[in-house]
Amino acid sequence: MVSFTAERRRFLAAIALVAALCLPAGAQERREYLPPPTGTVHAVAAEHGMVVAQEKIGARIGADILRQGGNAVDAAVATGFALAVTYPRAGNIGGGGFMVIHSAERHEDVAIDYRETAPAAATRDMFLGADGKPDIAKSRDSALSIGVPGTVAGLALALEKYGSGKFTLADLLKPAIELARDGFIIADDMADTLPAIARRLARWPASAKIFSRADGTSLREDDRLVQADLAATLSAIAAQGPRGFYEGPVAERLAAGIRDAGGIMTADDLKSYQPVIRAPVRGSYRGFDIISMPPPSSGGVVLLETLNILEGFPMPEMKRGSAASLHVMIEAMKRAYADRARYLGDPDFISAPVATLMSKEYAAKQRASIDLDRATPWMDAPSATPPREGSNTTHFSVVDSRGNAVSNTYTLNFPYGVGLVADGTGVLLNNELDDFTAAPGASNAFGLVGFEANLPGPGKRPLSSMSPTIVLKDGKPVLVTGSPGGSRIISTVLQVIVNVLDYGMDVAQAVAAPRLHHQWRPDVVRVERGFADDTLAALRERGHEVIEPLGQTSANSIAVTPNGLLGAPDPRTRGAEAAGQ
Ligand code: GLY
Repeated sequence: MVSFTAERRRFLAAIALVAALCLPAGAQERREYLPPPTGTVHAVAAEHGMVVAQEKIGARIGADILRQGGNAVDAAVATGFALAVTYPRAGNIGGGGFMVIHSAERHEDVAIDYRETAPAAATRDMFLGADGKPDIAKSRDSALSIGVPGTVAGLALALEKYGSGKFTLADLLKPAIELARDGFIIADDMADTLPAIARRLARWPASAKIFSRADGTSLREDDRLVQADLAATLSAIAAQGPRGFYEGPVAERLAAGIRDAGGIMTADDLKSYQPVIRAPVRGSYRGFDIISMPPPSSGGVVLLETLNILEGFPMPEMKRGSAASLHVMIEAMKRAYADRARYLGDPDFISAPVATLMSKEYAAKQRASIDLDRATPWMDAPSATPPREGSNTTHFSVVDSRGNAVSNTYTLNFPYGVGLVADGTGVLLNNELDDFTAAPGASNAFGLVGFEANLPGPGKRPLSSMSPTIVLKDGKPVLVTGSPGGSRIISTVLQVIVNVLDYGMDVAQAVAAPRLHHQWRPDVVRVERGFADDTLAALRERGHEVIEPLGQTSANSIAVTPNGLLGAPDPRTRGAEAAGQ
């Protein structure tokens, strides 16, 4: 068991590392988020279909597919591949993620799990140092941290099973190939990320070259980013399907690049990769159905446990942002995140009491343990500065005119992953295996503690927090949401849902409203600016340790209303766009 002192030390070290990867001072994403005044945030309206994504070229490519008669899955696949080119911080083909689909056409709700897997040579102690203690240089900063990428297989599977049939994989890859081959102009938000990442990329010349000018300095705003090798890799996928990535020259180059960098992934690992179609987790909240991502994401289970606890409190009558409503939300989060740490992992390897955790009876017991006047002390709490990056993962939401909806979150883990591009592939590789627990009681880069259920193992998927979610009323989507932000993803999705369903907020205001976060350990409440001072004082009086700021998230969401679609690109980050038609 790892002591709290060691946990605190590692949490601080992780924060220092992640902070070093953050955007430079002055970049908007580094500024603390200040919610815009009420009445100044407006949703973007559309009648027939919409894509809300973190980068505008990718969003518009998806909307264009909708315009051409594609369904939400076609659009999501096109956007997913496009963002691998235009949003290399997190859009990817070298990482993995999750897609939750409401298919009105097939009367089906489904989850596509394309999470990365650990290579066959992975061992449970692979991230321990010679002293037997977790070594974060191995799990976050080395080629050992690279999981077998799932994105190509996952997007191809989604298209094959749930696409409209109007578009081939090659059709949907075409815009991404052109953008990689001909390049695109770098916007300010991306330009601001590159100097901070330069040292990390510089470890591998093939990586550094892509994002540098001829003089070796980082590309800047208005420079053109051309990714010829990535165009060739995407073309191989267009020509051969996923085999063009998982077998043959691309796979061999990926395996060689990873091996040369000290990793253990082989061409066989790539060839063996399989995405999985899973039943989403499903629950209810005040008459709405919530469908979200099952394990190996913790997102859906923690979200539903939290909502079930809150359902027994009169949230609608409690004033939004009041100390009373925030107190019960914090206490619910604390309990659900504790269960995450104790029980959840890859369902193909461990058996977790998921049904119990999501049951109304269990929530009633959890609710009964909440003292309305006092914070439940959970541990001898360390305080630390949170990881501030929010661009490590990216979420997009899609709705089409036929009632289909897609909620997709995918990631490289850290911004630009581990920073390695295998020579000749153009593929930025992830460092997702840091989401495993290096040793029982150890924490990952987001400070999330884990135990036996989430130790590394061959072929195993690390536990995630990504929570692509769709809210249904009478079987039809009313809200599509999700977010990046590591541990903060689940609490973000929770607050967007509560703001819309309990407080009747317009989706744009629900997304813009200040958020808070508690993840059990460390035992602190992180808050964004925008909560009233006397509310925070009242929380402190109840015994909560309340700390500003909260690391950034970005809940790009869509509400489906009787008057049409309303898109909410999150105002916390530059670049997000609601592209409608
Ligand atoms: N890498 C962040 C997550 O999957 O939760």
